[in-house]
Amino acid sequence: MKREPLALLGGAPVIDKPFPSYNTIGVEEKRAVMDVLDGGELSGFIGAEGKQFWGGQRVRALEAAFCDHFKVKHAVAVNSATSGLHASLMAMDIGPGDEVLVSPYTMSASATTILLCGAVPVFVDIEPDTFCIDPDAAAAAITPYTRAIVAVNIFGHPARLDPLRALCEKHGLFLLEDNAQAPDAIYRGRKAGTVGHAGVFSFNRHKTMQCGEGGIIVTNDDKIALKAALFRNHGENLVEPMGLTDIVNTLGVNYRMGEMEAAVAIEQFRKLPELNRARIALCERLTRGLRELPGITPPRVFEDCSHVYYFYVMKYDERITGIPRDLFAAAVKAEGFPVRAGYLKPLYLQPLYQHKIAIGRDGFPFSENLRNANLSYAPGICPMVERLESHEILLTSLIYPPLEEADMDRFVEVFVKVLNNRDALSSAGRSAAAAD
Ligand SMILES: Cc1ncc(COP(=O)(O)O)c(C=O)c1O
Repeated sequence: MKREPLALLGGAPVIDKPFPSYNTIGVEEKRAVMDVLDGGELSGFIGAEGKQFWGGQRVRALEAAFCDHFKVKHAVAVNSATSGLHASLMAMDIGPGDEVLVSPYTMSASATTILLCGAVPVFVDIEPDTFCIDPDAAAAAITPYTRAIVAVNIFGHPARLDPLRALCEKHGLFLLEDNAQAPDAIYRGRKAGTVGHAGVFSFNRHKTMQCGEGGIIVTNDDKIALKAALFRNHGENLVEPMGLTDIVNTLGVNYRMGEMEAAVAIEQFRKLPELNRARIALCERLTRGLRELPGITPPRVFEDCSHVYYFYVMKYDERITGIPRDLFAAAVKAEGFPVRAGYLKPLYLQPLYQHKIAIGRDGFPFSENLRNANLSYAPGICPMVERLESHEILLTSLIYPPLEEADMDRFVEVFVKVLNNRDALSSAGRSAAAAD
């Protein structure tokens, strides 16, 4: 068989067109924003008692739409998922001396919001297929100081939420779902984000539904909802006028969502099922093309679950392909298909954790946790995540409309071309190593 030379080695790339960026903003969003501008009420919030404590009409309409769709009692819109995680943890009364279990394979805010409460994250290893926190490892990490588990439904697929919730019930812990990447994913017949005591969604510009910056908390717990709303909007001013004698331990910030963001989010939320459907169709096509290739394992979808594919994450086995992962990724990229070798460094390897100092000059809040001498952020504490990140994960975000199924077929073609050129790549790798 004639082999086309690899683009990395001077040949022509399979794909020579740039891909469009993700943009699902249409006339609906534009009209909704113009309505807000025409009315002049760009925010409906006031940090004082009364109707305006709860925000403007679009913020409340967005919250009502989430309650309706996710069949929850409460939704609290905020200005980002980071704010939503922080507000939820504060509403759960997480504070200094507390430990919160979380996966290290996630965006940093899943853990920094724990530090912002004065508590410390305890990083727990992940499962090799969901890439989410491992419930057995979580059980083993519980100490007398553990107060909550943050389950991140990473890449668009839910964590194993039932065992995590059962663990929380057994030990009197809160389960907070960081559902920033998995809007409308299904976990055993229920919506991801609604299995925990609270769930948080992100509407930042990169998410499947977006409003620039924004987020929302969903919960069935009256107290969490009220405390999160107080935290969102200068709650310290409200405890007295609202007669909240049992929750005086509240301070507030300004995590309020504006009316323009809410207006966009409402329109995007209407589109969410269709936006997810388009991604799922593209990813299923890609999986059909990749699943027979040696050394490439497409994302798994577990029984009674759905995957909404924020990222398309594959596992790569260089013992089978004979090509080191990073070299394979470089060759694929050179063919015009941007893949990433790895997602993010496990969070505990960041300087913040290595130096154990987050706020002020004296090691707070880590210094509050001296009772637990075992708290460690040393390399090696989560071997699964380290192995996956350094050797196995390959991912792409190019799985959105207006890309088409034909584009997915081209991606498969790229993989096949690189795999077929293993020998040329190996000898080029050897020459490069010899020249070093
Ligand atoms: C898993 C996860 N959690 C939290 C966040 C924070 O979201 P936001 O940018 O809305 O604050 C993100 C954003 O990328 C995320 O992916």
